[in-house]
Amino acid sequence: MSNRVLLVTGGAGFIGSNFVRYWLDRCPNDRVVVLDALTYAGNPANFAMLSDNPRFRFYAGRIEDSTVVNGIFRVEGITHVVNFAAESHNDRSMLEPTRLIATNVAGVSVLMEAAKAFGSERVVHVSTDEVYGEIQTGKFKETDPLLPRQPYSAGKAGGEMQVRAHNIAYGVPTVVTRGCNTFGPYQFPEKLIPFFITRAFQDKKVPVYGDGQQIRDWIHVLDHCEGIAIALENGTIGEAYNIGGIVERPNIDITKIILQTLGKGEELIKYIPDPRGKGHDQRYAVDSTKIAAIGWAPKHDFDTHLIETIHWYVNNRAWWQPILDSSDYQTFVNRYYGPGLGSDL
Ligand code: TYD
Repeated sequence: MSNRVLLVTGGAGFIGSNFVRYWLDRCPNDRVVVLDALTYAGNPANFAMLSDNPRFRFYAGRIEDSTVVNGIFRVEGITHVVNFAAESHNDRSMLEPTRLIATNVAGVSVLMEAAKAFGSERVVHVSTDEVYGEIQTGKFKETDPLLPRQPYSAGKAGGEMQVRAHNIAYGVPTVVTRGCNTFGPYQFPEKLIPFFITRAFQDKKVPVYGDGQQIRDWIHVLDHCEGIAIALENGTIGEAYNIGGIVERPNIDITKIILQTLGKGEELIKYIPDPRGKGHDQRYAVDSTKIAAIGWAPKHDFDTHLIETIHWYVNNRAWWQPILDSSDYQTFVNRYYGPGLGSDL
């Protein structure tokens, strides 16, 4: 297939910007149009290398702004949509649980309305495995109920309900992906892996919540992008697809790998009372049989690429230091982790 025009919302963020680069390489006849609100996490530096690419265009704006969204559909002739736009950090949503509703729920509805009005050929909504809630044993399948336990995951589940309703009620050709915890280059340094790498690199303490025994299902960002691409091209309309299920690791194991790779000692670990409270999901794990059946096979093994990611951060301090220096970032860290950790900044 050729000559598609993809609208990638949230394309200046971590997974979105990796996806934009991936798609331009994968599909040399397609154009990619990014709409991103450039909130704290969206960073034009994530696609600075694309500024001269004639197949790439960028708009600053919010998905909840129907004038902007409809204007882009009209002017650019959008044929396909991939929605990454979201307030995506659990810890920030603990501080401001209502804020995320505008983008993660209402914005999704605006986008679906535009997709309906302009007759999009396919809309992929990028969701998360967190919508299922936690699981002690076994793995979630796509048919399991959505039982979110935190403001962030509840917002993502609400977005999914908008997608589902627009598919059923209006026939918008949607596919949902539910990816697991993702890592790799360009991840904003508030998430576990880049937060700990950038802190430990500077000999600052790394705050492990509780006993650090919470388990996450991890995937490299390029495997996640490939899963989204396969869902776009081969997914069945109206269906959801898990993307993950390769490797599970307790947080403390990842913490120790980061410290060891950076040549730092475990005295940098600071166990702190869990700021997420009872809503902190103990374990996530998804079954990816369904997406494997339409052609997805992960290619990046966790251990090798975690180390590669650590090296990327070591070698790209010019990318993350301005983020750490920003007042928004320092305010968040001080507010969330308290002055004890904040004074280590
Ligand atoms: P995170 O990267 O925020 O992703 P998610 O909440 O989507 O799983 O957190 C991953 C795990 O790491 C989660 O169990 C919380 C834990 N964590 C810490 O222990 N300390 C931290 O400073 C952060 C950011 C996360």
